[in-house]
Amino acid sequence: MCAAVERATIDERLLLIRAHPELAGRAAIRGELTPESTREQQGAGLAACTPEEFARLQRLNTAYTQKFGFPFVIAVKGLNRLAVITALEHRLENALEHERAVALREIGRIAGFRLADLVDEPPGSRIMAMAEHLARFSDRPDGLSCAYLTPAHRATAALIRDWMLGAGLDVEIDAVGNVIGRWHGAAGNAATLLTGSHYDTVVDAGKFDGRLGILVPISVVARLSRAGAQLPYTLAIVAFAEEEGVRFKSTFLGSRALAGRFDSAMLDSVDADGLTMREAMVAAGLDPGAIPAAALDPRTLLGFVEVHIEQGPVLLNASAPLGVATSIAGSVRCLAAVTGLAGHAGTVPMPVRRDAAAAAAELVLAVEKRCSGTPGLVGTVGLLQVPGGAMNVIPGRCELSVDIRADNDAARDAALADLLAESERIASRRTVEIQWRRVLDVRCVPCAPRMQQRWAESIRRVTGVIEPPRLPSGAGHDAMVMAQITEMGMLFVRCGNGGISHHPSETISAADADLAARAFEDFLLNFPVSP
Ligand code: GLV
Ligand code: MN
Ligand code: MN
Repeated sequence: MCAAVERATIDERLLLIRAHPELAGRAAIRGELTPESTREQQGAGLAACTPEEFARLQRLNTAYTQKFGFPFVIAVKGLNRLAVITALEHRLENALEHERAVALREIGRIAGFRLADLVDEPPGSRIMAMAEHLARFSDRPDGLSCAYLTPAHRATAALIRDWMLGAGLDVEIDAVGNVIGRWHGAAGNAATLLTGSHYDTVVDAGKFDGRLGILVPISVVARLSRAGAQLPYTLAIVAFAEEEGVRFKSTFLGSRALAGRFDSAMLDSVDADGLTMREAMVAAGLDPGAIPAAALDPRTLLGFVEVHIEQGPVLLNASAPLGVATSIAGSVRCLAAVTGLAGHAGTVPMPVRRDAAAAAAELVLAVEKRCSGTPGLVGTVGLLQVPGGAMNVIPGRCELSVDIRADNDAARDAALADLLAESERIASRRTVEIQWRRVLDVRCVPCAPRMQQRWAESIRRVTGVIEPPRLPSGAGHDAMVMAQITEMGMLFVRCGNGGISHHPSETISAADADLAARAFEDFLLNFPVSP
């Protein structure tokens, strides 16, 4: 349908817009709307306007039709009456061409909602299609990059919100940009099981890291609610706004806000263009002052579970589609800045140079050497740059990141202490200064044994495998932050292509996505309200 609209002439597009009834207008009063429109307009409270509101709507509707020559169209699903009226007021100020595009976009959203109600394809292929769809929003034209609060990131959030609404969830976008969809349990039970993962990505990312843990729950809830099922507890699906730390070098912004662990000093961190996080939030329509209020009350929580791709080869090599995470490795991340002395590449003799990049190179090798040979310990320098460098200038400054992880905190802390000592030796030998700034420090987190057991049982019921693989996670996850306020567990899904992740070749199969959805559904249906 979208392709047909794109090919259509302006007059044909206008015919499509004009085929829509006036919102809360005479057709609604005469009962001429489709049952779907009636339901949605009632849901937004448009059938219960006060006489003053009705008069205001009529006035605005008339002004709108006179200005543009077509009726006001908006996908009202998930909006309340006030939001609809306010949108009408704002859109009256648009220029004609812009407003025509907005109306067509809204028609596209309405069509999406209607289709979601009709289609009952297997969850696996639907999840794959949704992941492809989200991957179209990218900060760069080549590949997928979706950093916190960029236009691509906001478009991703808007589409996730639409899908959640289409699945029958109540949706809010909180102060840091988390998209939270709630499926209220029977008997208005406030006890909430949380699930979800992140929708931001690394640069040149795969399509499943984080997003799988949002799409699996949405597709399962859509299926269950279409089938008329109800859970005895509230399920909240959280699409976390930020986990990767790409733009501001601070990670887990989404889960930290929900766990009440958001450090407001992070609001002053700056991106590569010198924009503060606070400024980026305000520009995106978010309210940084409301972040403390976004924290969840742990007393209302039944737990947090995350579905995630394994991001490694263990399940692939074991020919197992699904596995249970046992723990999440602790990690420490630092930014190191080496300051030497810039100079002419042709004139300064080698023995008297204070080359910052050469010192950084020693540090890179020290990280590799110190973190090799200890099982469970890994170290990576992922960022390395000479700011403002030139081919004929000795580097005066070099910046690098150091990421150290281990499945036990003592091993990780010992490695960092040794590297800091080595950094001092390198600095004094080369007469440079090396400053370290710690930007992340999370302890190794065990997954709750009860959660592990429940995931193992769900995998067994769905796949028939009696003892599904249990494996530690070397990657960090929102689950490790949420574990600070509630019981946590994770389901891992097999990766293809040798298990590669944080790379465009990252992949899973539709069949495995289907199994993940079935295991997740089984987990929900068997999850006890009381421990
Ligand atoms: C998150 O993707 C991480 O770096 O582990
Ligand atoms: Mn990642
Ligand atoms: Mn991830």
